[in-house]
Amino acid sequence: MSIFFLMRFFILFFVSIFIISCTNNYNPTVVSARKDASEIGLKIMEDGGNAFDAMIAVQLALSVSHPTAGNISGGGFMVYKLSDGSEGSLDFREKAPNSSSADMYLDEDGNVISGLSSLGGLAVGVPGTISAIFDIHEKFGLLPIEDLFKPSIELAENGFLVTKYLEDELNEKRNVFIMMNGEESLYSKNYREGDTIKNNNYAQTLIKIMNEGKDGFYSGEVAEDMIETISKKGGIMTLSDLLDYESIWREPVKFKYKDYDIISMSFPSSGGILLGQMMKAIEKFDLSEIPHNSAEYIQLLTEIERRAFADRSDLMGDPDFMNLPVYEFMDEEYIEDRMKSFSWEEATPSSEIKPGEVIFNESDETTHFSIIDKNGNAVSVTTTLNNSFGSKVYVENSGFFLNNEMDDFSSKPGFPNFFGVLGSEANSIQPGKRMLSAMTPTIVLKNNKPKLILGSPGGPSIITSVFQTILNVIEYEMDVNEAVSAPRFHHQWYPDLIVMEENVSSYEVDSVLKSKNYLLVKLPIEEDTLGVYKRSNIGAVDAILIDDFKNVSGGADSRREHYTSSVE
Ligand code: GLY
Repeated sequence: MSIFFLMRFFILFFVSIFIISCTNNYNPTVVSARKDASEIGLKIMEDGGNAFDAMIAVQLALSVSHPTAGNISGGGFMVYKLSDGSEGSLDFREKAPNSSSADMYLDEDGNVISGLSSLGGLAVGVPGTISAIFDIHEKFGLLPIEDLFKPSIELAENGFLVTKYLEDELNEKRNVFIMMNGEESLYSKNYREGDTIKNNNYAQTLIKIMNEGKDGFYSGEVAEDMIETISKKGGIMTLSDLLDYESIWREPVKFKYKDYDIISMSFPSSGGILLGQMMKAIEKFDLSEIPHNSAEYIQLLTEIERRAFADRSDLMGDPDFMNLPVYEFMDEEYIEDRMKSFSWEEATPSSEIKPGEVIFNESDETTHFSIIDKNGNAVSVTTTLNNSFGSKVYVENSGFFLNNEMDDFSSKPGFPNFFGVLGSEANSIQPGKRMLSAMTPTIVLKNNKPKLILGSPGGPSIITSVFQTILNVIEYEMDVNEAVSAPRFHHQWYPDLIVMEENVSSYEVDSVLKSKNYLLVKLPIEEDTLGVYKRSNIGAVDAILIDDFKNVSGGADSRREHYTSSVE
């Protein structure tokens, strides 16, 4: 074979690849926590909708069939990258009611009253989801809003399947539901895997909102029903709190990691900023020399996570209430300075980073979904009621649970929230303020095109789950299913211990870490121990990976019942 023939062959080959990658479409894909929701999102895109239409339809479907975290009565964040190269984010985080105050969860001696910020009417923040749905539709939607609501109305009317996961969640919370909402309440009943739950009251609520827009939720019958229920359960939210709510388009946080650009959520979420700190810190190390989940790897990430979480407790909160530094947190000199005390020989005690002592509790009940449409518009959404089924307060006539997002404020500076994260003045309660979040909807870009769309539930461990998943793809070349399902570990500064999934490390790796004075807690744990709440794993990442030739693959975390739907 002549050299000219070979050259011609290679030139033709690369030109064809170039032409294919310039002209062909992306395979529309949705990865979410429910099969029905992923399928609904995909169908919307097959019917001519874009990623934003699908986002709205998926959010609504999750509010029907994933009542632990899916919602119209909670909040969240969306990060997006458009096929024209532009990007942005929407903040639909809940807000503190106008009559809230910094000491609303304290007794007369100034002590935190246990449970008040997480259970019942006083725990409810002013919800943002419906405002977001209509704002997104107005700015980006292609299909009529009716087309996006109808699949979820039908799902609520015809019923949705109780999966094993939902059966377990409902069983675990049944006694609290009965205490809070009575025996006759829809979710106080006994459901088994394979049952179908019909929620006609909720179908009617969705019809009202579909017909009336934001007013169908923030005023009128549904709003009055919500406020009446909240006040019966000891809450302070009023109709004017609901009318005042607005979601906000914000600049996402953007940083570089090697050849990649990463966009993620900025304040009032700490997620993107901590992720930036962690990625910037690890960029200085040659990971090709450090095997995945080896003692060195776990040690290095632990020390990076410890330092980032120490910063979180200090100067992070709602940017509309104070001037907050953003890029200063991931400034190269600052990160270098933070890492100066790192030693391969021994753990840095958290007390030497910053003082404090908190309890680590954890709940995984936030939900994330990732979407890409045929044109390459990418959407990354994390949304929540905070804990599983939020405040547990159920608005019976309207058919939905209310959030307990107020617990994400610092009830008392220095006192840990449900997730064990220490708060500061910056995250103290003020009327109309948004509570600090850890949600980290993220898009990794290569050559300004989406490479990885991802996020996770898991309170503070959202950030470490996203961090480790990005490294799994970029540094350890895992495919997307391996990357989201690979065993993880988590450190959040206090308590000063590494929480590790069962299969993350061997006896030998654990011995090396212990010899360097690391305290380890291995999951699953059936009882609370060392301040770690009973739990079996860390995060549940839903991701979409796009290769250089626009091939799209969905990664649904094997820790949970998550589902990828894409055109076959
Ligand atoms: N409620 C969980 C979070 O916002 O981080």
